Amino acid sequence: MDLIALFDDYESAAIAAIEQADSAAAIEEVRILYLGKKKGRLKDLQSSLSKATPEERPVVGKRFNEVKNRVSQRLDERKVQLAAPVAARGADFDVTLPGTKIEMGRPHPITQTIIEFKDLMGRFGFSVVDGPEIEDEWHNFDALNIPLEHPARDPLDNFYLAAASANSDAKGGPRLLRSQTSTVQIRTMEHTQPPVRVVSLGRVYRPDTIDKTHSCMFHQMEGLMVGESVTMAQLKTVLLMFAQAYLGDDVDIRFRPSFFPFTEPSVEVDMKWGDDWLEVGGAGMVDPNVLRAVNYDPEQVTGFAFGLGIERFCMKRHEIDDIRRFYENDIRFLSQF
Ligand code: DAH
Repeated sequence: MDLIALFDDYESAAIAAIEQADSAAAIEEVRILYLGKKKGRLKDLQSSLSKATPEERPVVGKRFNEVKNRVSQRLDERKVQLAAPVAARGADFDVTLPGTKIEMGRPHPITQTIIEFKDLMGRFGFSVVDGPEIEDEWHNFDALNIPLEHPARDPLDNFYLAAASANSDAKGGPRLLRSQTSTVQIRTMEHTQPPVRVVSLGRVYRPDTIDKTHSCMFHQMEGLMVGESVTMAQLKTVLLMFAQAYLGDDVDIRFRPSFFPFTEPSVEVDMKWGDDWLEVGGAGMVDPNVLRAVNYDPEQVTGFAFGLGIERFCMKRHEIDDIRRFYENDIRFLSQF
């Protein structure tokens, strides 16, 4: 019965090849060659079964199945062996070899600044809240007392989203990437009763021309404190304490009169580092219209709010001269922090 001899040959050749395979890729090649469903050698053997006489058939068929099972079983075992970690295989792993140094990553400088700001403001009793980056006009403008005709609402000064995504929202109305973190003032007051003392740190988006000091995406820290008889003196104290905690006791701050729809009075905030006065953001006493928009009673509570540019602080502290460095993902820059 030369069929049986054929099976024997197949079996010993296949087992030898399996033993020799020394990688997952090699064992896969062996599998295709010997057990492959389309062109494997087993396929040829199977077709030769038809040559057996009816008397031979039971013996030959039995032997065929035996060989087939033995080869696939041995192949599966070897596969598992090869997939095991090197250490588990033992012999070829030398534990006395020196290791390779693992380069540890670290948070992005802006993230580091955000973490530090949260920590500082936390010590002054402000808790951290978050808001969405995709906003509706109510939270980005209306509730903040920014009327329809205000230039800040110009579609060319904002990233409005295509109507399709606006329609997908149950409430309807156009959506935009928030242009300021002041949105979170509203979101917080909508579901919290005074007293409120929060900060919110995150990204904002404006279609500004990108240069050394402007980016179409940057980060702000928003602060809000509302309660009975919250005053502008408290606002100035909090901002001064914050600036000194971040940069040192020799830092000073000053207010310049300004205008924001959501504060009355409003100020620009400057900080003095060394010999320079640097504008770091805006602030003021929360406008009564904003308090009314969230169903607070302006006769009962007052509040202050501020919004600071986070990049400014980080750039000043680390003497970074170009805001674009933050977003280029150049490891030579990032690994310096
Ligand atoms: N949202 C303002 C901006 O992006 C900054 C700002 C000004 C925030 C005054 C405030 C504030 O909370 O009271 O330009």
